[in-house]
Amino acid sequence: MNRILAINSSISGEASVSRVLVEETVQRLLAAIPDALVTRRDLSDVPVPHLTPDTVAGIRAVATTEDELAAQGLSDDLIAELQEATILVIGAPMYNFSISTTLRSWFDHVLRPRVTFSFSESGPQGLLTGIRAIVIQARGGLYSEGPSKVLDFQEPYLKQLLGFVGITDVAFVHAEKIGFGPEARDAAIAHARGQIETAVARIAAGGMAVHVPDGTAGPDQVIDRRP
Ligand SMILES: Cc1cc2nc3c(=O)[nH]c(=O)nc-3n(C[C@H](O)[C@H](O)[C@H](O)COP(=O)(O)O)c2cc1C
Repeated sequence: MNRILAINSSISGEASVSRVLVEETVQRLLAAIPDALVTRRDLSDVPVPHLTPDTVAGIRAVATTEDELAAQGLSDDLIAELQEATILVIGAPMYNFSISTTLRSWFDHVLRPRVTFSFSESGPQGLLTGIRAIVIQARGGLYSEGPSKVLDFQEPYLKQLLGFVGITDVAFVHAEKIGFGPEARDAAIAHARGQIETAVARIAAGGMAVHVPDGTAGPDQVIDRRP
């Protein structure tokens, strides 16, 4: 069974380009994989709190206080959502050349030592497997090419954050030049729709990515048929 986890992080409500495109992505995925289940999380409506001196041990050390245990509980819930997912869709507006602080705070709760990543002699290892991701990036300007390419601290950062926990199969969708007027905005959305179509087709063609918790597959199970 496929499960889609759709995460939004725009602060622009219904005017948000990434939010519209995330929902279109989910609908396209459901058209291709009708029995997929969907979990939605809107980090603008219900923000994940920033870590503080009172809560950080709940994620990075041993939780003992009430605040630390609460932070650990939230982290457990967010990680469980991710572990259940086979397809992750993230709406990521560019804010100040990078991601929203709400999305960053979600990552702060999800990147957890010994749970979603570990260190060995050969370096860090991501512990999440079988998740394919589509990341919708909405930007006021143009960063995928041209002079501002070097200012793109969003896509390399997201690639690193996701890869660090083992999510390496990521399709990045660009809705750029949103701030350049209505025509540029429409063209950007049309371009992004094409990228979404390609990404969804690739996921649909790859078959079902099935989580097998004990590491063994039954006769009719496909763990991951990605090429
Ligand atoms: C606080 C804030 C910071 C922004 N910083 C940038 C930026 O650094 N570069 C850029 O191209 N656009 C920037 N923008 C514009 C957004 O990236 C653009 O409006 C995009 O469409 C936001 O995604 P959304 O439509 O899903 O909300 C910023 C917008 C806001 C509200």
